[in-house]
Amino acid sequence: MSQIYEEIQALKQEKNAVILAHYYVPEEVQACADYIGDSFYLSKIATTLDASVIVFAGVTFMGESAKILNPEKTVLLPEPSADCSMACMASVEKIREMREKYEDLAVVCYINSTAELKAESDVCVTSANAVDIVRGLPNKNVYFIPDGNLGAYVKEQVPEKNVIPGEGYCYVHHEVTREQVKEAKMLHPDAEVLTHPECREQILALSDFIGSTSAIINHATDSPKQEFIIVTENGVFYKLKEKNPDKKFYPVSGGQTCSSMKNITLEKVRDCLKNHTGEVFVDSSRVQACRIPLERMLDAGKQAK
Ligand code: 13P
Ligand code: SF4
Repeated sequence: MSQIYEEIQALKQEKNAVILAHYYVPEEVQACADYIGDSFYLSKIATTLDASVIVFAGVTFMGESAKILNPEKTVLLPEPSADCSMACMASVEKIREMREKYEDLAVVCYINSTAELKAESDVCVTSANAVDIVRGLPNKNVYFIPDGNLGAYVKEQVPEKNVIPGEGYCYVHHEVTREQVKEAKMLHPDAEVLTHPECREQILALSDFIGSTSAIINHATDSPKQEFIIVTENGVFYKLKEKNPDKKFYPVSGGQTCSSMKNITLEKVRDCLKNHTGEVFVDSSRVQACRIPLERMLDAGKQAK
């Protein structure tokens, strides 16, 4: 084991800390984590831990959600400036305007959002549960923020409701083009195309399977197919290859990279533990209002089991 891994292990013990990592962070950071997963799994697991310190190797909204759900714990972000650019692509003013317009409106907030937006919303979702949660709502009218692409996918999957997608997008997924996917399909004609629903509708239409990062990894692992074109951030290749050493995985056009996720390094994980930096604080006037939609999401997950 390299020296930095040993240092991190020792600091974890000393501080009674646990490390959570999203599939998009660099593979050496995933390798040092206690729990690796998609956004839903990580927010769920964060509520079950005994450790007093949670190091969240992910972007700001992830650390914030962990803190909102666990106000008594210390949550540290190795790189507090690692933001999800989509998180602020909706506005409180527009939410209030929509509530005026539709009496029965449910505001459904993708977890990739600021605490300010969550506090104005009725329920949070991730890409792993958005379709099921929206389908189960009693409301006919649903304003889905901030991700317009995931919103459009949910709209298509739940035609019985009036889903109004927001206008935000994840640049990493939104930039994938039909030509890139078609080229990858030509190069690998036997491969299944597995795509994250943050991609545009025209990309989903070229795909064999659509799902969250965990769903993509599980699908590839369970599938009898041997080759896969992966249309999401390239961090997932670490787990895909670890779980399926004999299968082949191809990115689209060199791969998609989230610069914020890649800004989280092993050194920063060590340093936040050592120096107690990057602590997450959520405006106390907002915590309760954010907690409600997040807990509704976790409860919906429990009921679905
Ligand atoms: P999931 O982890 O829910 O698949 O989401 C991907 C993502 O973009 C997280 O920022
Ligand atoms: Fe945000 Fe996209 Fe990066 Fe995920 S991949 S953190 S949605 S910018």
